[in-house]
Amino acid sequence: MTKLGKLQNRNLYEAMGQPKTIVAPMVDHSELAWRILSRKYGADLCYTPMFHAKLFVTSEKYRSSMWNVKDGDKQKDRPLIVQFCANDADYLLEAAKLVENQCDAVDLNLGCPQGIARRGKYGAFLMDDWDLIHKLIRNLHDNLSIPVTAKIRIYDDWQKSLDYARMVLDAGAQFITIHGRTREMKGQQTGLANWKILRYLRDNLPENQVFFANGNILYPADIERCQKEVSCDAVMSAEGNLYNPGVFWTKDDNKEMQFPRVDKILREYFEIVKDVNSPASTHSMKSHFFKLLHEFLNVHTELRPKIGSTSVRSSFDNWNAIVEEVERIVEKEIYRRPNIAEIDVITDGPVESWGGKYKEVPYWRCQPYFRKVDGEKQNTRMLKVAGELDLLASSETAKRKLENEEGFQVSKKQQQQQQQQQQQQQQQQHDTIEQSKTVEQH
Ligand SMILES: Cc1cc2nc3c(=O)[nH]c(=O)nc-3n(C[C@H](O)[C@H](O)[C@H](O)COP(=O)(O)O)c2cc1C
Repeated sequence: MTKLGKLQNRNLYEAMGQPKTIVAPMVDHSELAWRILSRKYGADLCYTPMFHAKLFVTSEKYRSSMWNVKDGDKQKDRPLIVQFCANDADYLLEAAKLVENQCDAVDLNLGCPQGIARRGKYGAFLMDDWDLIHKLIRNLHDNLSIPVTAKIRIYDDWQKSLDYARMVLDAGAQFITIHGRTREMKGQQTGLANWKILRYLRDNLPENQVFFANGNILYPADIERCQKEVSCDAVMSAEGNLYNPGVFWTKDDNKEMQFPRVDKILREYFEIVKDVNSPASTHSMKSHFFKLLHEFLNVHTELRPKIGSTSVRSSFDNWNAIVEEVERIVEKEIYRRPNIAEIDVITDGPVESWGGKYKEVPYWRCQPYFRKVDGEKQNTRMLKVAGELDLLASSETAKRKLENEEGFQVSKKQQQQQQQQQQQQQQQQHDTIEQSKTVEQH
């Protein structure tokens, strides 16, 4: 593919081949080997992991550990968007110039909610400084030879989210990716992304604006559901892709592509890592092995310490021995079972309140991971939904809400009741805190 140059918005999107499925930027995970694998399984566009702009410019060691000549390879790794985090317009531009000949656009990370981003003032913590965001994007828009894009989170306030998205586009971002969670929704508080806010934002931004939706993708079928519900151009996935690269396979129902066997995909991935032989890809192997094999390792626990004891210095022979052991187990112990045809099936559960279906997938096939929250798997409990914070004072409230209403709609009367309840709770909490303060003072 030729360099896409300074194309804008829809023209840029078309020049990229109108991607529908996107590998999200993922620190330590969306590196070259992983992108090549994901593209084979249906990803149309990939983002690099977030690179720290200042370090990228000032530290040769950091840069060469993250980025090398094979990244953005014209045959194997395009279209590609390189993501940076930054809070200094000059460093950002300088960093972007170092990659502008090896990618199709540069993205600004406005979504990272981690403590390290708070301390470094970047990612989602720039949401408190719109002027700075505007300056960072505009400087790239004016001075870089390739386009700039941005990936943002939402606020609970829908109108503020819209004003925010408009500001980012006004600064010069050509694509906007919106992750339908707020900055507070991370770790145990991750909860559900809100596609309804995404739809609202989509409908209120200019019609021709290229818009990518991010959040809540578990299975290939969710990609189409998201595309329809949000009316977006493409759907981005992070965790869904990490645990099952087949999540992007939407061309047909081929289960070997949608829910690949762990032995096959592990071998494929490992051969790519050997072939690209880049520091970032070697560094990420351990984590990718654990994630691809996640469900499998719950049964074959004996493999865990073997993967766990590897390091970046482990030889490819060492890794190969692990891959061979997985191949042996799956081929000889599982696929030689007489009833394999009956057990190697994927079944759908009922339609859930969130609109999709959970699936039963054999443990020797890649499948989504459900994070445990308070000891429970997330798919068995009610989750907080972004932008509905005030309605969800407790999971009991959430449960009632979902039982009583179609989808996530709540009547005005219920909203008022729930708000009153919440205010009462807050008042009680306040009183308790005041009481304990009084005790402390004495
Ligand atoms: C391992 C991991 C690393 C991530 N690193 C980045 C990153 O470098 N830049 C970024 O914008 N978001 C990053 N994210 C957030 C994802 O891009 C995405 O917005 C988020 O996980 C929600 O998508 P999902 O529901 O499909 O997982 C990361 C997520 C994961 C799981």
